[in-house]
Amino acid sequence: MEQGKRENWGSRFGFIMAAAGSAVGLGNIWRFPYLTGQNGGGAFIVIYLGCILFIGLSIMLAEFAVGRRSGLAAVGAYKSFSDRWTFAGVMGVLSAFFIMGFYPVVGGWSMAYIVKSFTGLLSVPEAIGDVFGGFIGNPVQPLIWMAIYLVINVLIVARGVSGGIEAAGKILMPSLFVLLILVAIKGLTIPGSSAGLAFLFKPDWSLVTGQTFLAALGQAFFSLSLGMGCMITYGSYLNKQEKLPSNALIVVSMDTTVALLAGVAMFPALFAFGMEPAAGPGLVFVVIPQIFAQMGGIGPLFSAVFFVALFIAALTSSVSLLEVVVAYLMDQKKMQRKPAVYGTAVVMAVLCVLASLSLGVMSGVTVFGVGAFDFFDILTDKIFLAIGGMLLAIFTGWFMKKEDLKDELTNGGVVQFGLFEVWYALIKYIIPILIGIVAFVGITSIAQKGLMIFGLLLIVVLAIFSKKL
Ligand code: PHE
Repeated sequence: MEQGKRENWGSRFGFIMAAAGSAVGLGNIWRFPYLTGQNGGGAFIVIYLGCILFIGLSIMLAEFAVGRRSGLAAVGAYKSFSDRWTFAGVMGVLSAFFIMGFYPVVGGWSMAYIVKSFTGLLSVPEAIGDVFGGFIGNPVQPLIWMAIYLVINVLIVARGVSGGIEAAGKILMPSLFVLLILVAIKGLTIPGSSAGLAFLFKPDWSLVTGQTFLAALGQAFFSLSLGMGCMITYGSYLNKQEKLPSNALIVVSMDTTVALLAGVAMFPALFAFGMEPAAGPGLVFVVIPQIFAQMGGIGPLFSAVFFVALFIAALTSSVSLLEVVVAYLMDQKKMQRKPAVYGTAVVMAVLCVLASLSLGVMSGVTVFGVGAFDFFDILTDKIFLAIGGMLLAIFTGWFMKKEDLKDELTNGGVVQFGLFEVWYALIKYIIPILIGIVAFVGITSIAQKGLMIFGLLLIVVLAIFSKKL
């Protein structure tokens, strides 16, 4: 009995670490703060938290349930139900591809900043912003870091996720947490920082448009690794004794805590330094070094550790993205693991080169008005993930048996899940409608309408040709 319990706990810890490792990544520390800055602060956060609570949590639970019920990864799980649904899984695979078209670029930046922390970046605080601009626009340096980052991903996924990475994650993820708290405290003590707190926690609704909702929804999906089958895959590895609702709640809480902490770590300092909140993707790479620069001799060390932790957080996420594509090629296309990993990585590398160069020498080359970096970003998090989540909700609510879902979420009636009916109503009616409204309003107010329509057409084409995939 004793032993059985311990084993259960052990696997539960492993699962939570894997799922939280996938969820907590660049989305929380790099993307969430800059989106908050661009979308007006507090009001965006309120909407984001609403998306997490009413949509994200339920979708995560649904993905776990679908995965564990079918015992298959995304495409297989849908396909086992009906060929008609294969496209929903394939869309997830495509999302993983496109996210990996820019994620390793930013992962590479985080590695570069580990080194830069020691090579004089912090000694001229006024120049930190320019250093970042110069670095990402450079045609060679970011590509080298991106390549190194991608190779590390390939090595891990080719061999299966190693104990080394898990061990490193177990030390570095908590370090990241502690460091964020330290940075937040440091930031809050800089004179003038209270304006940053007001920006974060006093919503200004005048800045909210249809786009704000779409940005918040997309970010919720991105940050929780939802809408593309990643959590279906993780759910499929979960043993039958685990309680799905509490696991989903823990993962969602961890992810949200890290995002909010990243906001508190950055905005007070940002306002204290008189910087621009809507600075965009450079935020974490500019504000954080500025804070560490104020710490004197110990600054570079702290800065380096911070970027190591950011790199590890990114790595545990991108590994799961690469694995989604590889699992598809192995399961459905009967490829061997290694060729699947190498082939996938080569295509991703090409996408990443385009994404990286689009921030510099190729900035004039645009499709639907945006460069490659933004193209991959917008296509996934503003269209594919949200629609993927909507399809999953429809699939779960309308095509799976209610008794089966109840059985899965209560472990065959063994555990209580008092909110089952609420969850079911959310999944079946409310979430599909909500996502539909947000997508519609978002598309009509967004600048990149051409790209949005292209994305939707791509989904329709996939749906038509799905049986061949
Ligand atoms: N959730 C990860 C992050 O926040 C990104 C991710 C998205 C990972 C989708 C897997 C699937 O960085």
